[in-house]
Amino acid sequence: MKKLARVLSVACVAAAPLLAPGTAAAQFAKPEDAIKYRQSVLTVMANHFGRIAPVVRGQQPYDPEQVKADVEIVAMMSKLPWSAFGQGTEGGAARPAVWSEGAKFKQAQERLQGDIAKLVAAAQSGDLAQVRTAYGAVGASCKACHDNFRNR
Ligand code: HEC
Repeated sequence: MKKLARVLSVACVAAAPLLAPGTAAAQFAKPEDAIKYRQSVLTVMANHFGRIAPVVRGQQPYDPEQVKADVEIVAMMSKLPWSAFGQGTEGGAARPAVWSEGAKFKQAQERLQGDIAKLVAAAQSGDLAQVRTAYGAVGASCKACHDNFRNR
């Protein structure tokens, strides 16, 4: 048992450099791969977020199950892009502020996560009025971050 523990701890130390957060090499072979990854994830997230727009505008009937399914995809995708903004992955439409104002960029991610959590709850309630309010808040979170951190 003791020996196994020692072997495991050696293995963990050996693996640690591979798991260092924020280094492009840890998860992506090239900076371009990180950029492609985050843009792809954001595209899928935006697509499913956009599908809900005509519903909250009253242009499409409210199907609670469909909205719930789209919101779940938005929630899942919203966790993924941020680890692909590591040091050395400057580029795409991301402004240099992503890296020079990291704390503010992090705050904008947290604001999004908080608003999405409320959208998930609203979608689960099945109440369109709640979905509409929460949807608007998420949209404002997207915009606030883009205003500061994305080139148009
Ligand atoms: C914390 C900041 C932040 C938040 C919040 C955020 N985005 Fe973005 N978004 C970015 C940045 C930075 C880029 C540019 C990425 C790049 O080109 O490398 C971007 C790019 C995009 C793109 C373009 C992807 C492409 O193919 O180039 C879309 C679409 C998008 N965001 C949608 C959204 C939507 C929808 C939301 C809200 C649900 C959202 N974003 C929330 C920072 C954010």
